Amino acid sequence: MHFDVQSRPAALRHDPFKALVAPRPIGWIGSVDDQGRANLAPYSFFNAVSDRPPMVMFSSAGRKDSLRNIEASGEFTCSLATHALREGMNLSSAALAPGVDEFEAAGLDKAPSLRIRPPRVAAAPAALECRLWRTLDLPGSYTVVFGEVVAIYIDDACVKDGRVDTGALRLISRLGYMDYGVLEAADVFTLNRPLTSDDGRSLRPPPADWDGVYR
Ligand SMILES: Cc1cc2nc3c(=O)[nH]c(=O)nc-3n(C[C@H](O)[C@H](O)[C@H](O)COP(=O)(O)O)c2cc1C
Repeated sequence: MHFDVQSRPAALRHDPFKALVAPRPIGWIGSVDDQGRANLAPYSFFNAVSDRPPMVMFSSAGRKDSLRNIEASGEFTCSLATHALREGMNLSSAALAPGVDEFEAAGLDKAPSLRIRPPRVAAAPAALECRLWRTLDLPGSYTVVFGEVVAIYIDDACVKDGRVDTGALRLISRLGYMDYGVLEAADVFTLNRPLTSDDGRSLRPPPADWDGVYR
């Protein structure tokens, strides 16, 4: 099948878009309101958008508590969602009244941040501390929040030989519909960037193990 998005074929009972842009990392966004009350919610329209400086974005469908809090305070955390934390992550997505603390409602302990007021999920193996850069209204009712990462928490147990052992974290991701994925260590593989010859005409095989140089 091949179609314009305005005319989805009857064979597709649900919009396929999010099932195709998958897996999407989950930004588990912590914020505080103007009275200092904590808020937590998962966002899968979430990703890194630069690394110098490190910046992330998430997109809010309408004006949700996280967006309002971040506009007012200028700060938010992104905790990493793991398979072990999947139930709490899901519970924290409940549409509770503004000011109700989803950390508490979902039974998740908070841990303090280093540079900003919003806490992170204590049990998460890592979290990013972000300062709001700017928001951007998209066509429709979505608003994208861009944040600069100013501090990072990583559980020391997740660092092996100077690198984050991402494959050991069992990170979960959002697929389409109500489906999720989990990254297992066995799924991780290394591909070195191709090296070109001095005259730019041929490829040379890169070394088998990554030499630690980004190309
Ligand atoms: C895994 C997951 C991903 C989600 N991703 C988004 C998203 O990208 N954008 C969005 O607006 N809502 C998303 N939601 C729904 C919000 O988490 C939900 O509306 C929540 O109540 C918002 O909380 P807040 O008002 O405290 O910000 C997601 C929910 C789940 C479970």
